Amino acid sequence: MIKPLGSDKLMPLYVADDAKRAELIKEAEGLPSIIISSAAAGNAVMLAGGYFTPMTGYMNVADSMSVAKTMKTTAGQFWPTPLLNVVEDASAVKDAKRIALKDPNVEGNPVIAIQDVESIEEFTADQMATMTKEIYGTDDMDHVGVKAFNTVGKTCIAGPIQVLNYSYFDKEFAGTFKTAVEIREDMGKLGWEKIVAFQTRNPMHLAHEELCRMAYNDEKADGILIHMLLGKLKKGDIPADVRDKCIRKMAEVYFEPNTVMITGYGFDMLYAGPREAVLHACFRQNCGCTHLIVGRDHAGVGDYYGPFDAQTIFDNISKDDLQIDIYRADHTAYSKKLDKVVMMSRVENHTKEDFVLLSGTKVREMLGQVIKPPKEFSRPEVADILIEYYRSINK
Ligand code: ADX
Repeated sequence: MIKPLGSDKLMPLYVADDAKRAELIKEAEGLPSIIISSAAAGNAVMLAGGYFTPMTGYMNVADSMSVAKTMKTTAGQFWPTPLLNVVEDASAVKDAKRIALKDPNVEGNPVIAIQDVESIEEFTADQMATMTKEIYGTDDMDHVGVKAFNTVGKTCIAGPIQVLNYSYFDKEFAGTFKTAVEIREDMGKLGWEKIVAFQTRNPMHLAHEELCRMAYNDEKADGILIHMLLGKLKKGDIPADVRDKCIRKMAEVYFEPNTVMITGYGFDMLYAGPREAVLHACFRQNCGCTHLIVGRDHAGVGDYYGPFDAQTIFDNISKDDLQIDIYRADHTAYSKKLDKVVMMSRVENHTKEDFVLLSGTKVREMLGQVIKPPKEFSRPEVADILIEYYRSINK
């Protein structure tokens, strides 16, 4: 299995020792505390599970700017996106050296982590604008990720953390939420060495399924890690529990046993296109995967990114910095001639009319009207689960 990023072993920041964790939970009761943003809580969960190895906590202004501009920390460690704990107002923790971070996503805001505060600084408006442009490629506040990034505050609390729980993810998605540590262990047990990872925030339609199969066959892999985002999405996207059900059904019916591992991670979608693809690659390497599938408009939203920008960004990344390989998938579509999903560039004697090109948006519109997606788009078993969900919300 491939080594983690910048380290010989994973560095999960979850305090796994029960006695030590109990001690820290007790300590947290007496510490100055602050409710953090959902994005910061997501960072804590990812750091906890070893996904963000070799990072040890939240970045300061200098590291955030350096990462945004060069994809390297000031110490030279490769990392594509700032890991931030920014707040509107840090006065509640002013001058404190050790603080309790409260989870905004769980009722009662329990403490998710303890942070050693190394610095509290303000990002200037210019610095926020530069970071936004570098990470998202746009400063348009209509971009859902840009808006989220720019509306949680500018006060940057930096320093290492010790994480006390996995927020709501391990409870709400028991059996699907996994840490990078667990994923490596499970792959080890299966004897997988060459693994293709598939990032998804969808219920997995035919094109997604076929992409996984193509990458698995082309790379002669031992297995496929289907790794779904379990955090927050934009309005109209399909909830994680419904996606989970669809994906499990699809794998059960259409893949050989023990070739697919279905898992999820606790992080909100950034919609940062190319930069997010690089982040996706970093944490799939940490999971032990040798390949990450990157297709059309990976992690994109609207038409902010070129369809293959999330692939070309890897052209300028050195193997010294990132070892996982990218499986670059061309646009896939259903061929009426061949009666299956194909990579459009791989088939001969096809004209535009020979393909069925259905967008996710179009299908969501159909589902909104409780119309079952056609067989060219979704497996019938998946379509049934989706229809049931749309019926329930249309009641
Ligand atoms: S995302 O979080 O990366 O946006 P999504 O579920 O939309 O996830 O897509 C998962 C992966 O499938 C991405 O790598 C995306 O580029 C790829 N993909 C989805 N549809 C197609 C398609 N029709 N052709 C090529 N790649 C696709």
